Amino acid sequence: MDNISIFLCFVIGLISLILISFKKRYAYWRDRGIANLEATIPFGNLPMGKVHIKDITDPIYKQKKPGAPFMGAYFFRTPVVVATDLDFIQNVLVKDFSNFHERGMYVNEEDDPLSGHMFSLDGEKWKSLRAKLSPTFTSGKMKFMFPTVVDVADTLNSTLAEVLKTESELEVRDLLSRFTTDVIGTCAFGIECNSLKTTDSEFRNFGSKIFDKPLHGPLMELFRTQYPNLARRLHVRVVSKEIEDFFMGLVRETISYREKNNVRRNDFMDLLIRLKNGEALDERSQKLGRVTFEEIAAQAFVFFVAGFETSSTNMLFTLYELALNPDIQEKARREIEIILSKYEGKLTYEAVQDMVYVDQIISESLRKYPPGVILVRQAVRDYPVPGTETTIEKGTAIFIPVFSIHHDPEIFPNPEVFDPNRFTPEQIKARHPMSFLPFGEGPRNCIGLRFGRMQSRIGLITLLKNYRFSPCSKTPIPMAFAERRPVLAPKFGMHLKIEKI
Ligand code: HEM
Ligand SMILES: *[C@@H]1O[C@H](CO)[C@@H](O)[C@H](O)[C@H]1NC(C)=O
Repeated sequence: MDNISIFLCFVIGLISLILISFKKRYAYWRDRGIANLEATIPFGNLPMGKVHIKDITDPIYKQKKPGAPFMGAYFFRTPVVVATDLDFIQNVLVKDFSNFHERGMYVNEEDDPLSGHMFSLDGEKWKSLRAKLSPTFTSGKMKFMFPTVVDVADTLNSTLAEVLKTESELEVRDLLSRFTTDVIGTCAFGIECNSLKTTDSEFRNFGSKIFDKPLHGPLMELFRTQYPNLARRLHVRVVSKEIEDFFMGLVRETISYREKNNVRRNDFMDLLIRLKNGEALDERSQKLGRVTFEEIAAQAFVFFVAGFETSSTNMLFTLYELALNPDIQEKARREIEIILSKYEGKLTYEAVQDMVYVDQIISESLRKYPPGVILVRQAVRDYPVPGTETTIEKGTAIFIPVFSIHHDPEIFPNPEVFDPNRFTPEQIKARHPMSFLPFGEGPRNCIGLRFGRMQSRIGLITLLKNYRFSPCSKTPIPMAFAERRPVLAPKFGMHLKIEKI
């Protein structure tokens, strides 16, 4: 044989080997008797082209088999679980949590201290931070921060009044992001970031950078999670150096200013500083020891990242549905007026608790548009799935398709209809506890859910009391979602017509 033939044989042999190895891989679920979709080499069940994460799991969820706990799928060569049964989901998130407390995200604390935050950390580090910080999110602490959030809502109100002097149709997405940026800036960093008052706030600019321009593309993200040890050896980061310098500097200044001048405030930073100095926030946290400066910075950072975009999109989609459903909007406004008149016109903590219809509206908005469209867990050990012969192997990722569950007509009839009455106490009780998961569930659910809900309620109540919202020619009907964003967002902004009442 000549050299070219040898070379060709070699290439053909190599390609065949690769194909055979993929075919073998793609038999993983079939060999275990688990239903799965046909996988294509080399992407498995990942769709080609630009799509939103929910479009990766939604087609898989829709093939669910009655009685089966989950569907098998392949992300590239990796077998993953897409949960389809609510009892199974309850096992993963709550009952067998000890087997699923990890997310398996990439962290590199050495080169990139801000990556070491509660959302991404696993194991003992996560457990210890979660226990230390849980006392900062109790309803008592929310009551404490309530007046601070109302102050920011008043600024939102006056900023909007100013804008409406010259415009009547408005892109509200930016305005709402500035509101939640100021709230979390004040409550987590203890600074007035003034993004509502000035259009060029540094804080707001860094906030949009995190979501609009991620440091790495999808391939690098995949590499980091698939080969975390190698990635760490190559000093691969998650947060850019520029963002790190900004946030670390901010936290350093805030802490030293407060310690030097003995400043105490009603915010997360105050609680974080007390933890750093070994003060106990309650009986339990005392035994857990201190947190370091880097740990404080990373947690304040994740409060910001996890807090502002999720809450502002929640408010955004709520205003959208209220504009499209004027009767629901009027009913909410009547409730707000009646209850405020009981409290002498003052928006107090108790007044907000009494506005149950507003809360139902927010829940229905979180159902139809859950900002976090999927939940992720990773098996810490081999897990024999109850009621089956199947074992989920250690290290397997479990995806819980929240968006698909919230839009499943068997769980929520006529899922595209916006109906706050789905969230009366009777209706909630009639459903499976895992059918509504906007904040996740179990010991690793959203730590900021009370704060997020409080912020949405205060913001929306203030807006609905003073302004009427309706669709205009640029309002996106039907809704199209932006691709490749970690948080559900409209593709073309959100234009609404707004009138002062
Ligand atoms: C409407 C607003 C919000 C929504 C929809 C939301 C949603 C979520 C979801 C779905 C998770 C994952 C839960 C799971 O895997 O079971 C999560 C985790 C988390 N959220 Fe939120 N969130 C919101 C607001 C906030 C706020 C305001 C903060 C902070 C002040 C926050 C901080 C966190 C943190 C730190 C985690 C990670 C918890 C852990 O792994 O232990 N979130 N959030
Ligand atoms: C909100 O702004 C309107 C003017 O658009 C004003 O009449 C109202 O008093 C303001 N409310 C608060 C709470 O600041």
